[in-house]
Amino acid sequence: MIIAVDGPAAAGKGTIARALARHYGYHFLDTGSLYRMVGLAALRAGGAPIASSTAIAAARKLDPQDFADAELRNEQVGGAASVVAAIPEVRAALLELQRSFARKSPGAVLDGRDIGTVVCPDADAKLFITARAEVRARRRQTELGAADYEAVLADIRARDERDSRRTAAPLLAAPDAVTLDTSEMDIAAAIAAAVRAVEARRTGF
Ligand code: CDP
Repeated sequence: MIIAVDGPAAAGKGTIARALARHYGYHFLDTGSLYRMVGLAALRAGGAPIASSTAIAAARKLDPQDFADAELRNEQVGGAASVVAAIPEVRAALLELQRSFARKSPGAVLDGRDIGTVVCPDADAKLFITARAEVRARRRQTELGAADYEAVLADIRARDERDSRRTAAPLLAAPDAVTLDTSEMDIAAAIAAAVRAVEARRTGF
């Protein structure tokens, strides 16, 4: 059983995907963290702007042990992740790792941008989690403890734009995905709606 959870930055997909994995007893992979690791490795190796060759080399020899969670979460690394994520060779280097994770028994939940479209087009259930950019910026500001709301909003908009416009696996809802707009939902309501959507797929109702 594979559950694909896609959507833009700070829409709540990580929280929802983790909760689904707990609910069903499945494995969980935050695929964004892989792109963040490559982004950070490229920044460490060569600084900004990031050269494609540096990013591709970093993706090919990625070792998740080299990174601490806390340093992956800041918006500079998020921005670097979305730059390296537009490079087809970087995406190709991370593809098999994600697909083999998806095959884990008894099931897996993967969250990202292209899980339902490219990584696992045959996923049993696909969710596309979204929310208005202003709401997402407010959530990310709280999560990061950032002072400047306008700056966070500008970062989110820039990332949305880059993720949606790139030609390699752009951010896009799969035609068979259920879209959940969490703008007016708290976490509990969003998780309940996601479980209902997955159950509807599993049981065919
Ligand atoms: O948590 P947030 O949604 O802010 O970001 P993330 O999921 O950690 O992803 C960081 C960046 O990695 C995104 O802006 C995408 O450009 C890229 N990404 C991707 O291209 N494909 C994925 N499956 C996951 C992330």
